Amino acid sequence: MSERATQTRAASAVQRCIIPECNSAYGVQERIYVCSRCGGPLEIQCRLETCGDADALRKRWAERAGSNDPRDRSGVWRYRELLPFDESVPIVTLMEGNTPLYDAPRSAEYCGLQGLRVKHLGCNPTGSFKDAGMTTAVTQAALLGARTVVCASTGNTAASLAAYAARAGMQCAIIVPQGQITAAKLAQSMDYGAAVLEIEGNFDEAMRLVQELADDASIYLANSINPYRVEGQKTVAFELLQQCGWKLPQHVAVPGGNMGNSSALAKGFDELLRLRLIDRLPRLHVIQAEGSAPVARMFSEMAKNRAAENGSELPDYLAPVEHPQTLATAIKIGSPISWRKSLRGVLRSGGSVLAVSEQEIADAKAIIGRDGIGCEPASATTVAGIRRMIASGDIGRSDSVVAVLTGHVLKDPDYVNRYHHGTLALGSAAPIAGAFANPPERVAAKKSAILESIERRTQSRERMPRAKN
Ligand code: F0G
Repeated sequence: MSERATQTRAASAVQRCIIPECNSAYGVQERIYVCSRCGGPLEIQCRLETCGDADALRKRWAERAGSNDPRDRSGVWRYRELLPFDESVPIVTLMEGNTPLYDAPRSAEYCGLQGLRVKHLGCNPTGSFKDAGMTTAVTQAALLGARTVVCASTGNTAASLAAYAARAGMQCAIIVPQGQITAAKLAQSMDYGAAVLEIEGNFDEAMRLVQELADDASIYLANSINPYRVEGQKTVAFELLQQCGWKLPQHVAVPGGNMGNSSALAKGFDELLRLRLIDRLPRLHVIQAEGSAPVARMFSEMAKNRAAENGSELPDYLAPVEHPQTLATAIKIGSPISWRKSLRGVLRSGGSVLAVSEQEIADAKAIIGRDGIGCEPASATTVAGIRRMIASGDIGRSDSVVAVLTGHVLKDPDYVNRYHHGTLALGSAAPIAGAFANPPERVAAKKSAILESIERRTQSRERMPRAKN
């Protein structure tokens, strides 16, 4: 790519309404979050033809991984040819991205797959995938001269925004449903100096509230309705393919809450396809928790009417779940803001949206743990969903599959403790009997007692497959 093209990346990008009948375009410097004409969602369109050819891009991205320049070290800004920012822009970064792709043999066996890889976005600086989008959103906020950044959150967006705002020296307010955020996530936001504003009401109410707040010129909204968040998060698709040696997995599974992450991955894969870095799309599967699954419900209705096929038109309206429930609090969302973009991506890829039960999520989380990989409950929907799709024949046993884990295990240790102690329960339902419960044992303070316990466990331990990486 020429120097001149690099300098004018932002100038040639637009924010475009995704509703086909509207298709309105706005400059990238306009501080809007939805289409001013029709209220539809916006996405950023960069001029991909100025990015250079596929081989040159692959080579340049590989070389940058060995450089010490912060733009190259960040697993988001490394792919800056595809971001709507000029080269000279000062970036707000915590060296996000660079997250591992692990082999997960026990989870694979549990699902009935020959092999399974997991991309662990919980290894980001604040412990969740949100950081990949927050670096671009807060960089844009700084460019626009925003004084205060705000978000509604189930906890992770809040922790991430609080950290990036602190890096940028910006004021930050997070709006969270009181009593529904894990202690670890709240602790992070307090530590990073954000104003933690707890409302009586759920996430969907908090989301409505921040959209009202965003009318105020002093406020910059950092939820994934903001297309700059999606721009950062889409780079996960680029990093994943690079880690796969540009060999495309057949399936990618991701949890669904507000549906920003699946929208971003879909956009990332779509751009790779248009740049001919890949020759088709992986099937994108979005997994929700049964008690908070408005999009899965809609998808299964569409499937019944054969509307959920590649190239189908999007419905106009999503019926929300009024009182969403799940112990996977990160995805306790009844009215996801980005459902249209996500569903469009799923349909284009020939993927699916499905829901899994609390029991399935809890057991899947524990089996991922047995691979030595700790994730938060929402992330485990992926393995639970993959297992279902193997059972239904939607995924073949020898297919190549990647599960995207979104948050770190230490985001919700209370859930883990309750699972292993047999006290994990949703509301007044009976506690979940964990298939992989592993509670602590009280032993006498004697060598013989400890050796006896270890011996007993050695004998009862099933032979487990070993991880290759
Ligand atoms: N996994 C984790 C760990 C999350 O925190 C979230 C969303 C999701 C999955 C779902 O991603 O919303 O893009 O579909 N957390 C948001 C928050 C809502 O406020 O932290 P999504």
